[in-house]
Amino acid sequence: MQTIQDAAALRATIRGWRAQGHTIGFVPTMGNLHAGHHSLVKLARARADRVVASVFVNPTQFGPNEDFERYPRTLAQDQAGLAESGCDVLFAPDVSAVYPFGADKSVSLHVPELTETLEGAHRLGHFDGVATVVCKLFNLVQPDIAIFGQKDFQQLKVIERMVRDLSLPVKVMSGPTLRAEDGLALSSRNQYLSDADRALAPQIYEILQQMRDLIAKGHARKVVEQAAASKLERAGFVPDYAAIRRAEDLSEPGESEQEGLVALVAARLGSTRLIDNLLFD
Ligand code: PAJ
Repeated sequence: MQTIQDAAALRATIRGWRAQGHTIGFVPTMGNLHAGHHSLVKLARARADRVVASVFVNPTQFGPNEDFERYPRTLAQDQAGLAESGCDVLFAPDVSAVYPFGADKSVSLHVPELTETLEGAHRLGHFDGVATVVCKLFNLVQPDIAIFGQKDFQQLKVIERMVRDLSLPVKVMSGPTLRAEDGLALSSRNQYLSDADRALAPQIYEILQQMRDLIAKGHARKVVEQAAASKLERAGFVPDYAAIRRAEDLSEPGESEQEGLVALVAARLGSTRLIDNLLFD
């Protein structure tokens, strides 16, 4: 596997592949990779002739009090893992390759509606940064398909919407959430948790499953959401939201709606913010 930092060098490699008629699969990441990221690389491997992964800790999607500075940067370890998962090129640009005019002076994309709720309401500007960087990365890599995790369900929806609205020539696909044995969704942020908090964290997934089961039994949505938030609080979390939404567009379902729903939770344990979700089948 080759690691490329430079945009021009990346373009030259991509041109070579195109000339040979190869299709390109792309997995954007912020690095500190775990089995969840690698599962997306393997999906890309199965669906495209060549696979590019990016590692770029994107400054524009972090709020002023978020963890941009302390976000774990583990490039050597990421390179080894990506080579094993079947990645052909790791694109690891520095900030100036992605933001030639500076991150604070960048053109910025805003995806309306979908970003006004849930994560978007708690992390102002976050999805503008995500949409902007993903669009820039798509322009640099020019993939046929790009793969995102369902773990960041709202992000997936935002990207799908951006791609359709901007008519970008890329097919967005998704992969399921990989979990630890106790149910905790794998995340680079899990390592911030103290041992005591790590032991509590799997309750998020338990509560998501309870939300699904209660809705299936016909309980009213708002009551289920409220009960989930109370359970999180009693367990020692500070919940930002526990919500049941339409999976299609994250809009609020009617009280008796049962089909096509997703439960989403964001909650803090100490200074670590965890998100997870569960699609109802
Ligand atoms: P990052 O958090 O590194 O995640 C990269 C990709 O891995 C995302 O599509 C995310 O949904 C997926 N992922 C994370 N945890 C997962 C898990 N447990 N199982 C399966 N997939 C998982 O998301 C970002 O980076 C950034 O916002 C990015 C899209 C790269 C833009 O900067």
